[in-house]
Order: sequence, then C-alpha cells, then structure tokens
Amino acid sequence: MADTTRTATLTIDGQTYDLPMHSPSVGPDVIDITKLYGQAGVFTHDPGFTSTSSCESSITYIDGIKGELLHRGYPIDQLAEKSHYLEVCYLLLYGELPSAAELETFESTITRHTMIHEQMHNFFRGFRRDAHPMATMVGVVGAMSAFYHDSTDITDERQREIASHRLIAKMPTIAAMAYKYSIGQPFVYPRNDLSYAANFLRMCFAVPAEEYVVDPVLERAMDRIFTLHADHEQNASTSTVRLASSSGANPFACIAAGIACLWGPAHGGANQACLEMLKEIGSVDRIPEYIARAKDKDDPFRLMGFGHRVYKNFDPRAKVMKQSADEVLELLGVENNPLLQVAKELERIAVNDAYFIEKKLFPNVDFYSGIILEAMGFPTSMFTPIFAVSRTVGWISQWKEQLADPAMKIGRPRQLYMGETLRDYVEIEDR
Ligand code: SDX
Repeated sequence: MADTTRTATLTIDGQTYDLPMHSPSVGPDVIDITKLYGQAGVFTHDPGFTSTSSCESSITYIDGIKGELLHRGYPIDQLAEKSHYLEVCYLLLYGELPSAAELETFESTITRHTMIHEQMHNFFRGFRRDAHPMATMVGVVGAMSAFYHDSTDITDERQREIASHRLIAKMPTIAAMAYKYSIGQPFVYPRNDLSYAANFLRMCFAVPAEEYVVDPVLERAMDRIFTLHADHEQNASTSTVRLASSSGANPFACIAAGIACLWGPAHGGANQACLEMLKEIGSVDRIPEYIARAKDKDDPFRLMGFGHRVYKNFDPRAKVMKQSADEVLELLGVENNPLLQVAKELERIAVNDAYFIEKKLFPNVDFYSGIILEAMGFPTSMFTPIFAVSRTVGWISQWKEQLADPAMKIGRPRQLYMGETLRDYVEIEDR
C-alpha cells in the first residue's frame, strides 16, 4: 500500500472521523474510506466513479491536464515511435523493458500460441454471417474456458502466465476469423515467420487463391495502432475485467466481459461510431449543422471521437494517431481522402469553439483511428475488434496485478436506495 501521509477529517452532525490519506508516486492523493461505513454508518456516493480510486496499480499513469500517458513510466509517444507492440506487451505484463534475449523468448512464445483449438472453428459456424464480429469475439473468447482447462486455475501462477500468453496470442486469430466468417471467406491460419501485426493483416486479407504480401507501411501502422490502444488505467472495460476477476472467474470469462463492455459506443465502439458520423456529415460544409446538434441539449447527438473522462486538454494517443493518419494515407495515395478532410476541419472548428473549449472536448484516441483502419481496408465493424485485440494485454496485465494484490477482495459496491420502504403484500382481489 502507498504511504499514509496525512489524515482527512470528516465532520457529520458534530462527530468527526479521521480518514487516512495515501500519496501515489505521481498524481492526486487518495482518501481511504474503507472503514468509513463501519465508523460513521454512511456510504460515499459517486455514480460513474468520477472521483473514485478503485485500486492500487503500477501499470499505467494518465495525467488528464498535461495529456500524459505513461506505461510503467515510459511515455506513449516514445513507445509508439521507438518500441513495438509485443515489446510493449512485455513491459505491461512484467514491468520492465525486456533484454534482447527476453524479448526473443517472449515473441517466440506468443508466436507459437497463435493457433486456436481446431474444434473451436465450429463455434463460428453457429453464428449468422451478418453477426457483428464483436458478438462473435465475446462468444468465442468466453468459450476458450471450455478448451483450455489447463490454464483456468487462477491460484496457479504458471497457469495465469499460460492463460495470459494464450489470450494475447490468440486474440488476433479470433478477430481475423470473425472477419473472414462475416465475409464468407475461408479462415487463414497464422504463420510463425510473420510479426504480430503482419500475421493479423494476412489472416484478415489473404485468400487461398493467391499469395498475400504484407505491405511494411501497413504493418507498421497496424503495430502502432495496437501499441496506442494497449492499456489505459481503470477505464470501463478494464474495471469490468477487474470486477469479474474479483469473484474468482477464470481469465477467459473475465476477458470476454471486458470485450462486451468495450463494445459500447461511449467506449471502444466510438471508433466505429466516429467513422459512421464522418460519413454521415459527408462534407465540410455540413459540419456546422452537426456542431449545433452536439451543443443542443435536446438532441442526444454527440460528436463521436470527442471528449474524455480523464483527458481535459488533449489525448496524447490522438496526436500520434493523427500523424499516422497523414503518413498512411499519403503512402496509400489517398491523402485527399474526403473523410480525412472532414475530420481535420471538424477538429479545427471544434477545438476553437467556445462550447467545446468550455466542456473540454477535443479528439480522443478513436477520432483518427477509424480513418486509418478504413484506408487499410477494414470495414467499420472490425474497428472495435481491433481495439479489443490491442487492449487484451492491458486487461490481462491489470487482471494479473489484481490477483497478486493481497488487499484484493470481491468488488461489491453499495447504493443510495430511493425505492419503497417496507410494506405488506396485497392480495390480488384487494388491489
Ligand atoms: C475511450 O476511459 C478511457 O480511458 C477510455 C478510453 C480507453 O483507452 O480505454 O480512452 C477509450 O472510450 C475513449 C472515449 C470514446 N468515446 C467517444 O468518443 C464517445 C463520445 N464521447 C462522450 O460520450 C464522452 O465524452 C465520454 C463518454 C468519452 C466521456 O463522458 P463523461 O466524462 O462522462 O463526460 P459527460 O458525459 O459527463 O460530458 C460532460 C459534458 C456533458 O455536457 P453537460 O451535461 O455538462 O452540459 O460534455 C458533453 C456532455 O453533454 N459532452 C459532449 C461530448 N462528450 C461530452 N458533447 C458533445 N459531444 C461529445 N462527444
């Protein structure tokens, strides 16, 4: 536990309660309320957890004011430029950048876990062809616990490690198979001579009728997109994984729960919703109409890809993603992509608009990613599955950290009850 530095004093009806405060290595101090209900008979109330620390973690730090994102202390812009996804996976899982030998062993292990049990292919055939790939992924990942019994005992450290490697390795295969199934093409098996990103591109876009050569520009862009989405502190889907894990559920069930939560358009589903919004806007001259709708309290429309619970000035991932968008589209010869023009003009207008400045709304990680993914050939339905592939290492790293935390107990919030008080049953003839 972090150092107890100071005490907060709470006064209720003239009675004072001293609550210990803990100081982090960086960021806001926390007030420890674990004993508040026992001492004062009151709960704290924080729907949406806007002011609540749910756990102690050492994996990722976000400074919403500075627009800073650190993975084990390393800033995301340096990792995006100098590292690559599997090295970032090692960093998130084990806490330090690997030596050359450690990285080679880790990459070899992940590479050799990329195939799924052949029997699992039948799962896909039980879905409709037009099922959303996220629905397929939730089902197939949850079903992994029916196949990999030798890595579901969460009390066994080696089984936890095997489950971690299997999930990181197999998620791209499952996502690619969900895509192939949805377009009626045969599954493509992973290849051990390809990088993680190249393997995913080939499993998505190769067909048996001809050789598929991975474009190194797309491979680099894919790897960077994986790196930028890898982990993000206690976001909704990571908190879902932690809560599921707190009951002792197996890792495959916990990650399936995380995938389900990520799917929502307020979270990981925003990349699909953002691109669909840009297509609906269609041209720069229609942007003012949508800006007005976003400001209209009576209109539920929100600018997808804008805003963030934590970042209040800019999302550092969006800055890197925007650079990648320019590079990828130029190298693909689609730099005049009309959607990119709409996105850039929308960003320019929004970040200079008093409403958005006051509400602290600006592009988040999902704003530019969809433009790159569409240029790479992915349908919008694959945007969130790609987010899920990347975030699996974050979910798993947080899952492992929680299981190793001696303070961990089942998560069980209370409530502010506003329903009926005690009353007797009324027979139907008396109602
Ligand atoms: C991700 O948590 C993470 O770390 C998530 C993530 C990760 O890596 O895991 O970063 C990934 O989920 C990024 C966010 C993707 N979502 C979207 O782009 C969807 C659009 N954004 C919004 O739904 C919203 O901004 C959220 C969900 C991202 C944040 O919501 P909050 O923090 O609960 O903020 P809020 O809904 O309370 O909004 C504050 C105000 C409101 O106005 P008032 O009620 O105060 O008058 O800002 C307005 C909102 O109406 N507002 C928007 C808006 N987002 C917030 N208005 C127009 N367009 C928007 N996008």
